[in-house]
Amino acid sequence: MKRILQATVTFAAAVGMMTGAPQAKDMKMGLITPPPHIWTKEAKAFAADLKATSGGKHTVTVYPSRQLGNEAEVLQQMQSGAVDMAFMTVAEISNRAPEFSALFTPFLVKDNAQAAKLLKTSPTAMALLDTLPSQVGIVGVGYGMAGVRQIVSAEPIKSIADLKGRKIRVTPFAATKDFNTILGTAPTPMPLPDVYDALSNGQVDAIEMDLELTIKLKYWELAKTVVVSNQMMFPMVGIVSGRTWKGLDAADRKMVSELMKKHLDVVLDATEEVERTFLPMLKEKEGLEVREVGPEFYGDAVAEWDKIWLPKAPGIPALRAEAAAL
Ligand code: BEZ
Repeated sequence: MKRILQATVTFAAAVGMMTGAPQAKDMKMGLITPPPHIWTKEAKAFAADLKATSGGKHTVTVYPSRQLGNEAEVLQQMQSGAVDMAFMTVAEISNRAPEFSALFTPFLVKDNAQAAKLLKTSPTAMALLDTLPSQVGIVGVGYGMAGVRQIVSAEPIKSIADLKGRKIRVTPFAATKDFNTILGTAPTPMPLPDVYDALSNGQVDAIEMDLELTIKLKYWELAKTVVVSNQMMFPMVGIVSGRTWKGLDAADRKMVSELMKKHLDVVLDATEEVERTFLPMLKEKEGLEVREVGPEFYGDAVAEWDKIWLPKAPGIPALRAEAAAL
């Protein structure tokens, strides 16, 4: 009986392969963020939703904390179909598709709430997602984000001159490296897990970071000044391997997109809370100066950045217009 059942299953699978009928699939999803981070929590919530909605046909195992490798490695595995899905920084995507750097236009948005709105509604940001299948071999479902970027410094910062020559930890991508080079700092690319030790042992003098992680990962303990300027958005994108996508039928694609989008929106909505919760908490920390500044603090750095990036990221003017209209 057992052998008959096994033969039937094998035959059904073979017919499925021959006819191209979609197969039930246990999918792998890779993230660099640790288990308590909201990206990981929402990836797991998405996996649970997909399993329930598909009646167990599709399952997703979420691998946080770089278990499948760093983002460049995960992207490579997605191109070969070895990894199916990811919540990935747009920073990494922009290393492959430089037009995405438009999303790192300095001072594009005034705060996290406006960033979240822009990433939910911007036609220019959506059009960038449409380029991913042909450019990178992945499907972009929608955007999430970590909070807009600030500078957390181990030494007091009163003016931009105080940052000159300082080693500033950045996430490795060209748009922020250029901005720092223009400012005269020494941008030091470094993945998230290495940041606390690097700031505490003096390997770097300051870090680019969002306010939520500045509180939650206790970077503030190592800081004299946090320059709060909202200098750049830090978007993330929910992506599916092009090969995996091809193996899903239209109904399953719709299900995956809608459920992933739902959880990306939870990430965006949570980020809107940053100004209400984490900024006031930071202001209460003893011995820490929270210096709130505008773009003028950075002199003509934005104009200089534009000279490099307007030709390489043509979506910048449209994104500026869309953000201004929000
Ligand atoms: C970072 O590299 O700073 C980062 C990466 C993922 C989530 C949040 C921050």
